[in-house]
Amino acid sequence: MKDIYILGIESSCDETSVSIVKNGKEEISTVVLSQIDIHKKFGGVVPEIASRNHVESITIVIDEALKKSKLTMKDIDAIAVTYGPGLAGSLLVGVEAAKTLSLVFNKPLIAVNHLAGHIYANQLINDFSFPLICLVISGGHTELIYMDEHLSFKKLGSTKDDSVGEAYDKVARVMNIPYPGGPIIDKLSKVGNLTYNLPIPLDDDSYNFSFSGIKSAVINLVHNENQRGNEIRKEDLCASFEDVIVKSLTKKTMKAIKEYNVKYLLLAGGVSANSGIRDKFIELCNEKNIKITIPNLKYCTDNATMIATVGYYMFIKKQFSDLSLKINPSLDL
Ligand code: KG4
Ligand code: ZN
Repeated sequence: MKDIYILGIESSCDETSVSIVKNGKEEISTVVLSQIDIHKKFGGVVPEIASRNHVESITIVIDEALKKSKLTMKDIDAIAVTYGPGLAGSLLVGVEAAKTLSLVFNKPLIAVNHLAGHIYANQLINDFSFPLICLVISGGHTELIYMDEHLSFKKLGSTKDDSVGEAYDKVARVMNIPYPGGPIIDKLSKVGNLTYNLPIPLDDDSYNFSFSGIKSAVINLVHNENQRGNEIRKEDLCASFEDVIVKSLTKKTMKAIKEYNVKYLLLAGGVSANSGIRDKFIELCNEKNIKITIPNLKYCTDNATMIATVGYYMFIKKQFSDLSLKINPSLDL
């Protein structure tokens, strides 16, 4: 069979990224331009600034990804682009660029769900075997998903309020840790002790999550300690916070694995870069003889390689869009 080359575009938040992937498996080239340093001083992503930066970078990033691949647009079989969920202005830039390429070079257009992208970052490591459970933990989402075939996503549960990534970033802010706080909390927890008592979020039998309460619990704890004149030991607070997050995520995910009689787990999304979460899931899966795949660190956070990978499977199924494609900022799986 002829090799299939998909050009993927991702611009849903603060990364402008373009990749070319061969046969849904082999990354030929990738460029990721992160705006983190621009947004850092505001303590989070500013949507208007994000979209303006995407506009400035998108054509440069497309050119560079093509140049690195040593291919031309003639070699590309289709254009895959994230059309949601994400920030409206940011999504628009990627979708308009993809439509333009599709029109000018007469290539099929493929509309990719960003969350499917995070899940398919795992396909770069191992071919999926079904059924499987996937825990998507990102800056915008916390979702427990069941898949029994490619591109079929059954939602078992999700967060009722904040995502786990938001909890990390908001708790970091309380401790004056700069945005994005997740990676720094990860580092500090490694040298901290479990000395602070925090509640396990939504410790019930459902597959849903809730992380807004844990943020309030941390704010109250810091406030009370300050009033008593006690200094907060950041490392210990990070370790105690991460401990209850890990307990919440592992309890519900391992329960779903058992109830759905699944032998394969995927972790996905920016927060799956967290070493405490990775280590605990690997330990539990080894204990229970469950196969587990977690993306390499570079593919946990936003990138276009994961979008082009989903694009390949949609290409095979001829799931194409036309030029009337619209962004969908609150798109579900
Ligand atoms: O998937 P992602 O790049 O963007 C969304 O699609 O939302 O996820 C970004 C989130 C941020 O909240 C960031 O703090 C978190 O992932 N994150 C981490 C780590 N690395 C990134 N959270 C905990 N530990 C990490 N090592
Ligand atoms: Zn993401």
